[in-house]
Amino acid sequence: MVVGNRAAAAFVVVAAAATIFSTVFGSVLNWRRRNKFGCSFSWFGQSLAKSGECLERCGKEESRGGTEAVSSSFRQGVIGAIGNTPLIRIRSLSEATGCDIFGKAEFLNPGGSVKDRVAAKILDEALESGALQTGGLVTEGSAGSTAVSLAMVAIAHGCKCHVVLPDDAAIEKTQILEAMGAVVERVRPVSISHREHFVNVARQRALEAQAIMEDESQSFKESLNGGFRHCASGTHLRQAGTEDENCSQSKGGFFADQFENLANFRAHYEGTAPEIWTQTGGKVNAFVAAAGTGGTIAGISCYLKEKNPEVKCYLIDPPGSGLYNSVTRGVMYTREEAEGKRMKNPFDTITEGIGINRITQNFKQAKLDGAFRGSDREAVEMARFLLENDGLFVGSSSAMNCVGAVHVARVLGPGNTIVTILCDGGARHLSKFHNSSYLEAQGLTPTATGLEFIKESVLRPAFVRN
Ligand SMILES: Cc1ncc(COP(=O)(O)O)c(C=O)c1O
Repeated sequence: MVVGNRAAAAFVVVAAAATIFSTVFGSVLNWRRRNKFGCSFSWFGQSLAKSGECLERCGKEESRGGTEAVSSSFRQGVIGAIGNTPLIRIRSLSEATGCDIFGKAEFLNPGGSVKDRVAAKILDEALESGALQTGGLVTEGSAGSTAVSLAMVAIAHGCKCHVVLPDDAAIEKTQILEAMGAVVERVRPVSISHREHFVNVARQRALEAQAIMEDESQSFKESLNGGFRHCASGTHLRQAGTEDENCSQSKGGFFADQFENLANFRAHYEGTAPEIWTQTGGKVNAFVAAAGTGGTIAGISCYLKEKNPEVKCYLIDPPGSGLYNSVTRGVMYTREEAEGKRMKNPFDTITEGIGINRITQNFKQAKLDGAFRGSDREAVEMARFLLENDGLFVGSSSAMNCVGAVHVARVLGPGNTIVTILCDGGARHLSKFHNSSYLEAQGLTPTATGLEFIKESVLRPAFVRN
């Protein structure tokens, strides 16, 4: 009996020890397994793991959804799929110049462009601060890419989207937006000083949505006082206190304001730029890009120069844009072109989303060493060159950026590592930039066989104010 009791006691102790051992080591092993195989590591495998984002994106999903068995790599929803894009070595340009020329493949973001990062960051910050409520209306004035990204991210956050586009933007962007359920307003392209400029109209739409919400809330309060609830639409009269889905539907409006909202800068400073730094192993010598809002060039140039002040950062500016003069001469406008005087469309380029005639809050942050000018012909020829030599089918701003990369390579000489941005893909540009009839009508049919279309590489250094 005593022997039997001892044996039973020993059995209990061993069993308890085994349980503790297997629980502790099992979870450690499981954690290790998840980290090693369960997360989507970036190209060099460090950035997600280091930032802890991997555990955030993968681990949280597993515990919430109880999908322990599904330990393969996945991202948390469409927003989790934004960023950590590959850095592509562009073989043709690298061989032609003797430099390593890399393009950050932003066209691989789920919304198809670099603007996914900006949309995600702007809405994230707005929701965090309370400037935007779930169910609210996000408005934006955009040449197209930001609009598509905002429409996507807005849905993911349970919001709605109203975008205002210049009516000369490629029609496929409108088609995509409408297919995504966004409200699209196309306005004629006018100067920013005009109240019908697409950015000003978008700001106005947010104010209108905000006013509707405030009206609804006011009439709700009044109806409570009077014992009745009167919806702003005037279609319902209900007794106060009863649930009415049609009342107080508006959750207000939020103007994303990609030009002036510094969340745009932060999206690149905190996201795109650290990825570039990691993906090049810190060996980047130069960065070059065109600017629209300036968020990309500002965020990336600031970060890279903080990491290494020797990294050179340059602007490539399309025709019709005033940024080249601003960077190299410290003056934005000629007198005839000063904003507020000139009422016709200030842009005169086939490239979309880049070039501007005002200094935005985002562009103001940029740290630049100089600028190059780019032409429409160079952009068109470069797009054809990349397609034929590398199978890269890119949009107009990506092509212009690659023109910039060749200029930088020539100026700095062989052996340098140069990074630029492949902002979006060619499919967004079928009606104009990648349409042979359109190009022919513009006298821009590509004819080059090599890179001879990039004539002289003239770097003008940045103007330094005393
Ligand atoms: C396709 C595309 N490329 C490049 C840019 C320029 O980027 P950023 O606005 O960060 O200067 C834009 C801006 O709208 C764009 O739509």
